[in-house]
Order: sequence, then structure tokens, then C-alpha cells
Amino acid sequence: MAEVPEDAIVEDRSLELEGTALRRLIDAAAERILAHVASLPDQPSADVEGGAELARSLAEPMPETGTDAEELLDLLFDRVIPKSFNTAGPGYLAYIPGGGLPHSAVADLVSDATNRYVGVFAAAPGAAQLEANVCRWFCTLAGLPPSSRGILTSGGSLATFSAVVAARRDRLPEDFLRGRIYASDQSHHAIRKAALLAGFPESSVREIETDGLFRIRVDALERAIAEDRAEGATPFLVVGNAGTTNTGAVDDLPGLADVAARERLWLHVDAAYGGFFLLTREGSRRLAGIERADSIVLDPHKGLFLPYGTGALLVRDGDALRRAHALSGDYMPDMQQDPDFADFNLLSPELSRGFRGLRVWLPFKMHGIGPFRRNLEEKLDLARWACDRLREIPGIEIVAEPQLSIVAFRLARPGLAGEDLDELNRELMHRVNGRRRVYLTGTLLRGRFAVRICVLSFRTHRDRMEQALEDIALAAGELEAAIP
Ligand SMILES: Cc1ncc(COP(=O)(O)O)c(C=O)c1O
Repeated sequence: MAEVPEDAIVEDRSLELEGTALRRLIDAAAERILAHVASLPDQPSADVEGGAELARSLAEPMPETGTDAEELLDLLFDRVIPKSFNTAGPGYLAYIPGGGLPHSAVADLVSDATNRYVGVFAAAPGAAQLEANVCRWFCTLAGLPPSSRGILTSGGSLATFSAVVAARRDRLPEDFLRGRIYASDQSHHAIRKAALLAGFPESSVREIETDGLFRIRVDALERAIAEDRAEGATPFLVVGNAGTTNTGAVDDLPGLADVAARERLWLHVDAAYGGFFLLTREGSRRLAGIERADSIVLDPHKGLFLPYGTGALLVRDGDALRRAHALSGDYMPDMQQDPDFADFNLLSPELSRGFRGLRVWLPFKMHGIGPFRRNLEEKLDLARWACDRLREIPGIEIVAEPQLSIVAFRLARPGLAGEDLDELNRELMHRVNGRRRVYLTGTLLRGRFAVRICVLSFRTHRDRMEQALEDIALAAGELEAAIP
């Protein structure tokens, strides 16, 4: 290779943001963040009109020259961020909210600014330990034994993917295509997606019917397993729900654990939405049996109110998690032999990654678990309160009572059924959302449209729920008055 003369090396330090310049950028961002957070209750619950036009106006080639940071922050806070569902606001009762604790945003700033490599224990032993603490806290909360291990992922879907791979590697031969997975017709599509990504054909996932409370029919599950065995397939994984996305339904977890034990299946519990209700007395009563699971998915960006970007997978047999993920290369440093320590790259699909655990650790350590527990209790109470108030609105019927913090309902009208009834309820939801104080979403239950309220943000309290109920009553009244 040709030698490079020393005077030909052009030094560039312009990316080294330090001292006053760094402080100025942080201060400029902090100023806008503080104003944004303070105004959350007054912001519309959603504002996406003209969103596609905005998106088109933002498309641009790679910039050759720089732009002033103040101008860029203004673009974000004035144009980009407001045009959205207000997922951080108290009126967000759609899908599964969480809110997004600002403590975690500060934790992200610390972890990104220090940029430590937490996937390898040797590279940041203290940080790896704090993250391991978080995983151990979650395993203990779920009632798993000391041999269990956990990892933090970017969300529930990726955690589910690792769970399916761990189950596959533990229970099936290398040639695994005859393996069968069982999940209820209410299960999140993350299960089917994980199965597909793990290499299974779509037909490997059998959908099991549910009862009147949207819980898996254990008798139907047993029949499906027997049928599949008779046909030469290999049942290996059953999924239980600890809070479905549609209605918050909790499956008969002890019943599923019995079937799994008898049939030698891996029991996976999807507790992405419902899992942290284990912190409450009511939740731990409802989720009893979860401690018998082989793997559990929790989503701190739901039930622990974190900003998006954190899921968790817990596996009863920590070695099974390791066997599914442990590969290394000649360029890698030595891995830990001490079982007390964790090399997260050997337990998860990721190698290079930052200090994800800090965004859980910081708010937990700052507050202790008391406020988390009380917030979750409040959400359980608010969902029951909303259900009672909904019943008082003329024409409203409850489709699914809260088992946790979701209630599903619809406006019924004599003589109206099928598509027409769906249309009426879509209009009801549209009118409620149009008032911009709360944002609701719907789903199909037994093929018919139902509106959902999911209370899970730490910013949602009784005052906002009263507004929700006022807006629903108003919209229902308008639609009644419009009957020809
Ligand atoms: C019950 C359930 N499981 C899995 C998921 C997928 O999790 P994530 O969106 O974090 O990938 C969700 C998301 O809402 C969920 O509600």
C-alpha cells in the first residue's frame, strides 16, 4: 500500500461536540422538552391531519452543509412532533399506552453520551450488572426460580422472537418443521410473526378458540394437540395470554401449565401488556400460574410507563436461553465464566448495543416500586370505574368487562346489526376522537367492531377519564338524536 505523507492527513475535529457547545445543545433541547412536557395535557390527543403532506415535505437528499441546531430543534418541536397521536399525553387511551417516563429519557442521554458497550460483561461490568439487576427483579416479580435469566430487548415483538427460538432449540430437533405452536384466537400477532421469523411455516401456528371472556378454551387446546400428534406433527409450544391486546383477557394459566406439563410443551406467557400488574394485589391474583411458565414476555414500555424501546424476555431455564443465542468469534474478548454475571450477547440476538437497562433502573431506583404499584392500582380502578359509567349511557353495551385495565364496548341499536352496526360504532369513535381530548381505538371481537378504552399511562387520572366518558356520552347522544 502506498505511504501517506504526514502533511496529507487533514485533521477534522468538527464532530467533537464538547464543553459550551455541548451544553448549549443540551440546554436548547431541554428548554423545548420542558415546554413540551408541561403542555401535554393541553395538546390535542391526536393531530394527524395533513400528515402525509408533512412527510412529503420532509423528504430530502443527504445534506452537504450544516443547519443551525436551534432551527432543527424548532422543526422537530413545531412541525414534526405535534403531527402525531399524542402517545405521551393523558388522553391516549388507544392501543396500549404507557406515557414515557422522562426519567428514562435522561437515562438514555446518560447512556448514549457515555456510550458504553453493555452486551459484553468485560467491557462494562458495572453497567452490565445494573442491567442484570433489572432482569433479576423482573424474574423475581414473575416468580421464576434463581436459575432463570432475562434480557431486555427493543420491545415485546423481539422478546417473543427470542422466546420462540429458545423453545424451538430446547424442544425440537434441528429439522423442526413438524413443530406446532398453539395460541388463542385473541393472541397478539407478534406470536405468528416470531414463528415465521424463527423459520416455521405459517401453518405451524394453530389458533385455538376462546370462551365468552376471550380466554383460551383449554379443552379445545387439548383436542388440537391430540389431532396434531395423530397426524405425526410435534406439538412443542403453547402460548398463554396474561392480558390480551383486544380486551385484556387473562388465560387460565394454571390450566395451561397443567397441559404443558402433561404434554411436555414449552409454556410461553405473553404478559407484554398485563405483566406488570403483578406489582398489584389484584394483578397477582389474576395472573396466578405465570410462575410456571418456561418463558414470559413483559413490556416495560407499557406497564412500567417507559418510553418506547424496551421489552423483556424472561426464561425459566437460563441455560436454554443461552443455548439459543450463544455464538462467538475469534475477535471477541473472553466471556464470563462466573454464573453470577451476564454477557448479554450470549443470551440475546444483539452484540453491539448500549446501556438499555439504565432506562428501567433509573426511575425504579429514584422512586422505589411504590409509585409504580399505586399507578397500576389506579389504572385497574379507573377501568372498572369507566365500565360502570359506560353502562349508564343509554344504548351502550359492554362487550368485554375489564379483567385488567381495558374495557371494550359498543353502541347498540335495535334492528341494527352486522356492517351497519360496525359503521355506527366507527362513527361513534370518530366523533369522540374528533373532540381531541381523548384518543380511542377499536378492534374486531368475534368479527364485529368494538371500541376500546385502555388506561395505562401514568399521566391518565380520573379527570381525563371523566372527559372521556363525557365525550362518549355526547357522541352517543348525537347519534341517537340522528335516528330518522
Ligand atoms: C399482548 C401483546 N403482546 C405483544 C405485543 C408486541 O409488543 P411490541 O409492540 O413491544 O413489539 C403487544 C403490543 O402491543 C401486546 O399488546
